[in-house]
Amino acid sequence: MNYNNILSETKEGICYITINRPKQLNALNGDTIAELNQAITIADTATEVRCIILTGADTKAFVAGADIKEFAAFDKSNGENLARKGQELLFDLLENASTPSIAAVSGFALGGGLELAMACHIRIASDNAKMGLPEVSLGVIPGYGGTQRLASLVGKGKAMEMITTAGMLSAVEAKEWGLVNYICTQEELIPMAEKLATKMKRNSPMAIAKAIKSVNAGFTDGVNGFNVEITEFGSCFETPEFIEGTTAFMEKRKAKF
Ligand code: CAA
Repeated sequence: MNYNNILSETKEGICYITINRPKQLNALNGDTIAELNQAITIADTATEVRCIILTGADTKAFVAGADIKEFAAFDKSNGENLARKGQELLFDLLENASTPSIAAVSGFALGGGLELAMACHIRIASDNAKMGLPEVSLGVIPGYGGTQRLASLVGKGKAMEMITTAGMLSAVEAKEWGLVNYICTQEELIPMAEKLATKMKRNSPMAIAKAIKSVNAGFTDGVNGFNVEITEFGSCFETPEFIEGTTAFMEKRKAKF
């Protein structure tokens, strides 16, 4: 598949998706969101893909936000549509994908960029990362799920501080606040993401998909996460992967998924 704004390549079970508009600090315009939608959908339906690593071309920015130049002249209805369509096409898609995703963040992850990292299941930041939701400095608010996902990751008080001050966190602060799982040098960023992906690849993709669904259920309004967990737990039984996993344990060998 040929893309203009992203790169997508699958190697040894890992799909590497790179946002590739370095001159615009990888800002998310409509075309980039559409291409990401396509690449993530393809990766999530390909059985050989066991993990998605999302990153930015160039070390200066993961993504510096939604493309401000594209929405500067929007009216209320265009603005609402931008947020709704973006959330559906990209941010919700990624969060609810069956394939686990890791955001490998180097440099700026601002506005829609941090929102994209937060829609991934795991975040790793290199030591030059700067993360924030600066939207109120532009007279707008986060529109790609940032008000919701930031509060669930770092807590309401810290989310309120980050959003109202439009401040940026360093990699160390982001780790302290629980916004990223790991920090590392720029050279270690992709290898560290690959290390996590390699651990995931040993496990049942069916069980991982059900676990993602169950964890997400607990953060979905009106859904009882415990009930979803019970149903998903039950649905694992009698699947080939459950049979292989438990048989391998009893035969004292590694399961082959
Ligand atoms: N949208 C469009 N273009 C952007 C961009 C963005 N979010 N961020 C950077 N760029 C462009 C700049 O316009 C510039 O392009 P030109 O050379 O054509 O002028 C190029 O990328 C390089 O940027 P700078 O010259 O500004 O680089 P810098 O090193 O001086 O500053 C920065 C870096 C602090 C990240 C600065 O670019 C910046 O503040 N960017 C905007 C960050 C922001 O406010 N993001 C939130 C966007 S709103 C949003 O995301 C809403 C939502 O939730 C849906």
